[in-house]
Amino acid sequence: MAKARAQSRQAEQLVIHEDEMKEEEEEFFDESGDPLEESGRTMDSSDEEIEQAVAEDIVRFEDSFVGINKRYRLINRIGEGTFSTVYKAEDLEYNSFENEWDIDDRESKKWSSPARRRRPSKRPHYVAIKKIYVTSSPMRIFNELELLHDLKFSDSVCPLITAFRHLDQVVAVLPYFQHRDFREYYQDMTIADMRLYFRSLFTALRSVHAKKILHRDVKPTNFLYNPQQARGVLVDFGLAEREETDWHQCACTLPPEERRYKISHSVWAQTLQSGNQPSSYPKSDVRSSRRANRAGTRGFRPPEVLIKCTQQNTSIDIWSAGVILLTLLSRRFPFFHSADDIDALLELTSIFGKKKMRDIALLHGQVFETNIPSYSDGGHSLEKIILWCTGRTSSDKTQKKIELGDDEKEAVQFLYRLLECDSAKRITAEEALRHPFITKAFEDSEADEDAVDLVAE
Ligand SMILES: Nc1ncnc2c1ncn2[C@@H]1O[C@H](COP(=O)(O)OP(=O)(O)OP(=O)(O)O)[C@@H](O)[C@H]1O
Ligand SMILES: [Mg+2]
Repeated sequence: MAKARAQSRQAEQLVIHEDEMKEEEEEFFDESGDPLEESGRTMDSSDEEIEQAVAEDIVRFEDSFVGINKRYRLINRIGEGTFSTVYKAEDLEYNSFENEWDIDDRESKKWSSPARRRRPSKRPHYVAIKKIYVTSSPMRIFNELELLHDLKFSDSVCPLITAFRHLDQVVAVLPYFQHRDFREYYQDMTIADMRLYFRSLFTALRSVHAKKILHRDVKPTNFLYNPQQARGVLVDFGLAEREETDWHQCACTLPPEERRYKISHSVWAQTLQSGNQPSSYPKSDVRSSRRANRAGTRGFRPPEVLIKCTQQNTSIDIWSAGVILLTLLSRRFPFFHSADDIDALLELTSIFGKKKMRDIALLHGQVFETNIPSYSDGGHSLEKIILWCTGRTSSDKTQKKIELGDDEKEAVQFLYRLLECDSAKRITAEEALRHPFITKAFEDSEADEDAVDLVAE
């Protein structure tokens, strides 16, 4: 077994080279993987049973990263993403350092005597070691580590403990967070469970957004949730960026008057005036094509990213959280499954309708047209979509109309605020935490505590 082999291996000195990382070209307009390719681990992934291939991978990693096994005992591979491989490991030098990041330790020592608090901890402490692929550009790696460092004491964000580099290999060390694979529970979550899930997720987003940071890749595998504790942490800041990075003027931030003027004097408006169909284009269009950051995961990108808004802000994460809620309410994962951005726009059109997509495109100085006849102008209500997805429709017109339950209706009201196509009107994380859908989660937990008090008395 790799574990045994790892333990028997000679502990070597950890070598951390301080020389400059070499520059390398990066394809900035990158995207992460398909939602179906995601990794995710259960809470009980055993330390003992690991596959032969994983054991060999661990040995290879230890061989290449000289000295790592002096500080950490690698246990298992817990994630394989687009940009990294993540391992669970035991922190062998836990007691030699201050561990401000360890919330559980802080909690457990809160009521202990000062002498006991100073005593070294005997139980094992686990970390997640994120081995960032060497093909990632140094700028990307630096960006992830720097943002994580800035978010060190942020609520519900998985903090960075430390990071090491050996030659061109960089590893980030994070506290190991016990969680369950989203696919194991998304079909069984009650509305009360969803309130708790989103209370935790929006707490994380509030702290990230307060620092004017966009996560850009909010999705179930990047929010590690422990249903038993109703607690989750946001991970994976590999695509995150500071607001206003590479901003260029987009029509969406112009005063409405100015925007209307621009639209009415655009090439599109002139084409319409000349009597041509809106779907016709100038033969030789000399305008340069628009570039905007579209990093993120297919199916979780908001309309403004698909439309290439050049002034994207933290509201893009709110949309992605909305896609998670839609997934939970519809019991469909992944909910959206497009091959590319055009396909993704069409998926949104089938729900929100052609009119809204046209309006949103114009808001960002773009034109949206489709000649697919099956798309209606008005789209469909989210209530209807959830009823369809959960098989609660009937073609029998004589029967009573099937409706969502009261709790579900409240969830859908919240969902409308998250999946608001106009990003300026979308709810913020701070406001979301004050929405009745979330505040009820606080009321529910208070009621539970009261019940426990009564039993105790
Ligand atoms: N702190 C942690 N505790 C427990 N598991 C973790 C931790 N960090 C990451 N993981 C596991 O590793 C997976 C991949 O981590 P992460 O998202 O940071 O890497 P990635 O390469 O950017 O992944 P992807 O491309 O799939 O988004 C997570 O989905 C999770 O299952
Ligand atoms: Mg990830």
